Amino acid sequence: MKAQSSFSLLSFLALVLLQWSHSYINICNSLSIKEATIQDFQTAFDQNQLTSRQLVEFYLNEIEKLNPRLKGVIEVNPDALYLADKADREKKAKLPCSLSRLHGIPILLKDNIATKDKLNTTAGSFALLGSVAPRDAGVAMKLRKAGAIILGKASLSEWSMFRSSRAPNGWSARGGKGKNPYVLSADPCGSSSGPAISVASNMVAVSLGTETDGSILCPSAFNSVVGIKPTVGLTSRAGVIPISPRQDTIGPICRTVTDAVHVLDAIVGFDYNDARATRIASRYIPQGGYTQFLKANGLKGKRLGIVRDPFFMFSNKIVKQTFKRHFQTLRQNGAILVDNLEIANINVILDGTLSGEVTAMLAEFKISLNAYLKELVASPVRSLAEAIAFNKKNSDVEMIEEYGQEMFLASEATNGIGGAEKKAMRRLTNLTRNGFEKVMIDSKLDALVSVGADMSSVLAIGGFPGITVPAGYDSKGLPIGICFGGLRGFEPKLIEIAYGFEHATKIRKPPTFLP
Ligand SMILES: *[C@@H]1O[C@H](CO)[C@@H](O)[C@H](O)[C@H]1NC(C)=O
Ligand SMILES: *[C@@H]1O[C@H](CO)[C@@H](O)[C@H](O)[C@H]1NC(C)=O
Repeated sequence: MKAQSSFSLLSFLALVLLQWSHSYINICNSLSIKEATIQDFQTAFDQNQLTSRQLVEFYLNEIEKLNPRLKGVIEVNPDALYLADKADREKKAKLPCSLSRLHGIPILLKDNIATKDKLNTTAGSFALLGSVAPRDAGVAMKLRKAGAIILGKASLSEWSMFRSSRAPNGWSARGGKGKNPYVLSADPCGSSSGPAISVASNMVAVSLGTETDGSILCPSAFNSVVGIKPTVGLTSRAGVIPISPRQDTIGPICRTVTDAVHVLDAIVGFDYNDARATRIASRYIPQGGYTQFLKANGLKGKRLGIVRDPFFMFSNKIVKQTFKRHFQTLRQNGAILVDNLEIANINVILDGTLSGEVTAMLAEFKISLNAYLKELVASPVRSLAEAIAFNKKNSDVEMIEEYGQEMFLASEATNGIGGAEKKAMRRLTNLTRNGFEKVMIDSKLDALVSVGADMSSVLAIGGFPGITVPAGYDSKGLPIGICFGGLRGFEPKLIEIAYGFEHATKIRKPPTFLP
């Protein structure tokens, strides 16, 4: 749910801008598989310098080496090498399917995205261990069709942070406590912690996360990777352990904007099992897909809104200077900054209790989770009530004494979408209409700019898209992200802006594993 963050901008004492130069792949040197892009891999496949099997073997080795410390991965797919061999044979035979950009590329899925294979799908909880999905999640089906290799399941904040707000970010009973690969003692944020940790530390090429409010944007920013939170419905939620059908969305977490866009291209579109939302959002998908928006001059002519209060109120001089420099870079690359804007009732929007977001989500969670659990072919628990009972019975492994399950209990106490919930949802619609939508339309903006996941609730309650891109590191080596958010269907503009910023700054550097 909500990214529980201790991400205080006040703590940024310095910002080091490091130029990260792109390394071309050479399989004789395993170092260069690290940080390589999908395009690098495809080039190496085509030139017979790399096989999908070698790539999978490389990542399995890295997972074995790094994961005991980082805990970004919950399970690896026992069939990964078999699938890689199959991809290599298809490539060798030059089958049409092997021309797909994701063909032979290993991907990790957050552990709330179901697959019908040997992998478990548990949202990090023992309550779902051994549960059997009726089919692959809609996005997993699309990935397989695109030739991607599902390498395993990535860790997360258990139940996507909806069991309890007391558990630390990145913790789950099954996955342990995920670590930030830049500074191991620091917060990796959540709830898609595992996908962000794993791509940042090169335990996989690309990954998928999910977001209800901040769960892609926040861990991506904290782990210095690119996260795309698509318009709700652009990607199917079928087969994904849910929180809220109004807000849930599935999106890529990758090292570069280009990689994230390649993954996005593969997962968008209609899905019979999430028909209503995916049909409505399908009209936003451009002819020819999203790669056409990867333009070096993507910032040119873009109108970017700045809401100083509360998003750029830095008391720290160095952070202030950093974003001042980023604003200059944006302008130098042709963007028009529309400064000192205001979002009506922003303090209400950012407070889930006041806005009605929590009221709506608690009721939606019970309904959606019960529907998900009912559809499983087999499962240790069949309802939220049974999950609560499971946690009580297994309170030691699920750490119930310490972290509790107060959100589960509050959700179980709800009784469908009644008067209070409808009122809350009307309130959310109204807040969005008079707030974000009004600012975007009145000032003719292409995007609103923010730091990290600070505006995640603004985007969450209206089903709006956002992209976060690495924007620097503080004096302790902790990553900072810049976020661009837009109206529903604004992905093409956001991709142009994000790619333009990435191209102009090239800030990302691989993790340092500082204690
Ligand atoms: C899934 O969970 C079962 C335990 O129920 C375990 O035996 C199996 O190894 C798990 N699958 C993977 C791929 O780890
Ligand atoms: C919607 O917001 C406006 C302005 O913030 C307010 O005057 C109005 O009462 C609100 N309507 C509802 C139904 O909440």
